[in-house]
Amino acid sequence: MKASAFVATSLDGYIARSDGAIDWLGPSGDEGNEDYGFAAFMDSVDMLVMGRNTYDTVMATGEWPYGDTPVIVLTHRPIEIPAELAHLVEAREQPPIELAEELVGRGVDHLYVDGGATIQTFLSAGLVQRLIITTLPVLLGSGIPLFGAVDADVHLRHVNTVSFTNGLVQTTYDVVD
Ligand SMILES: NC(=O)c1ccc[n+]([C@@H]2O[C@H](COP(=O)([O-])OP(=O)(O)OC[C@H]3O[C@@H](n4cnc5c(N)ncnc54)[C@H](OP(=O)(O)O)[C@@H]3O)[C@@H](O)[C@H]2O)c1
Repeated sequence: MKASAFVATSLDGYIARSDGAIDWLGPSGDEGNEDYGFAAFMDSVDMLVMGRNTYDTVMATGEWPYGDTPVIVLTHRPIEIPAELAHLVEAREQPPIELAEELVGRGVDHLYVDGGATIQTFLSAGLVQRLIITTLPVLLGSGIPLFGAVDADVHLRHVNTVSFTNGLVQTTYDVVD
């Protein structure tokens, strides 16, 4: 199984403001309809694992951007899953390594890992193979960081970089084993 993160960050490395707001991610300039490869990426994944905070933010938008892709929400707390998503969304409280082993057994080939804390714990456990990071030309100064402490250096191999006329820069890295 391969796992990838597909995230947008500010130039100073935040994925959301401190209160979770992602208003700064909105469409900008003449590339407002550009999806930065998100639809193609979604077509390539067969399951998504996200942290509880990301789930709560997505639910607050009233839009479900993941189509029919099954989603596992990691949480220690009771969670409300709307009836129309009950066949797609399951909540779990499980260490990443255990969950990954189970998903391999379930035949998952490509896992999308989302949420800052969740990406960090999966990375630390050696469970993320690819990072696709779209950087916006904005400094937020504070917020929820994409990266945090690591037990050991995580080495990356640059795969490619694409820039957009509105100043967004998307860089793909593979994690070196
Ligand atoms: N810019 C982007 O592309 C992007 C992408 C994704 C998310 N975001 C934003 O980032 C923010 C969320 O990121 P975040 O770093 O706060 O957190 P997150 O990864 O979405 O959620 C972290 C929470 O998930 C639960 N959790 C994680 N691992 C677990 C495990 N193994 N077992 C049980 N529960 C587990 C815990 O919640 P509990 O213990 O509280 O249940 C933990 O506090 C949101 O504002 C979201 O909108 C932005």
